Amino acid sequence: MFTLNDVVPWGRSLDEYRSMFTLTDSDMTGRILGCADGPASFNAEATALGWSVVSCDPLYRFGVAEIRDRIDITFQSFIDQTKKNAAEFVWSNDLPDVEALGHRRMAAMAQFLRDFDVGRASGRYVDAELPKLPFADDSFDVAVCAHFLFLYSEQFPQRFHVDSILELCRVGREVRVFPLLELGSVPSRHVSSVVDHLRTLGFNVQIEQVEYEFQHGGNQMLRVLR
Ligand SMILES: C[S@@+](CC[C@H](N)C(=O)[O-])C[C@H]1O[C@@H](n2cnc3c(N)ncnc32)[C@H](O)[C@@H]1O
Repeated sequence: MFTLNDVVPWGRSLDEYRSMFTLTDSDMTGRILGCADGPASFNAEATALGWSVVSCDPLYRFGVAEIRDRIDITFQSFIDQTKKNAAEFVWSNDLPDVEALGHRRMAAMAQFLRDFDVGRASGRYVDAELPKLPFADDSFDVAVCAHFLFLYSEQFPQRFHVDSILELCRVGREVRVFPLLELGSVPSRHVSSVVDHLRTLGFNVQIEQVEYEFQHGGNQMLRVLR
């Protein structure tokens, strides 16, 4: 059973989603699913710009106060962990250190929390978990999944990854997954067998380089088309 203890409450912004997934102006006109969006501000920011975005995540079965508490409880340990493993990440003028990272993530999560009740009531935040989603076939033009599939390769087996991507392909005409690394910034052990499996089933699968790179070597996304 999914509990709050399972959640890594670490949310990214619309700008980060745009560069992780090479989201274009034309993507913006379509229906987008953000799967495993967690406390990202992607949906809140995109909706404010007029995009059509639905996010799904088992986190959304909890209320604002519970999610905020979980963020507050775990925040310092994430900062400490990131400091300990700072060499795994790409620091830049834009994001010079762990403190700046903490501010950026907290700002994104605060924006998510402010939007959550209204967004959940209007169906933009849906409690759902892979590998089964409560959406009709072809509900979305693009389904994106950031920092869940492949990242937790040790915790979830290859079969889970295949079933999850097939499910995303059922509900979305195109699927994009980022990054292709697992925790520890090493290439995911499942990528090549998942790609082979999907190709055997007749899917068009591409690995593409993207602008975003925060984990060293984490600058590739998987694009799957039916
Ligand atoms: C590290 S967060 C990523 C948040 C966001 N996508 C981002 O990149 O900022 C991983 C998310 O995966 C969600 N998650 C865990 N199990 C899941 C499942 N079976 N299906 C979908 N999402 C799941 C967690 O609740 C959490 O919000």
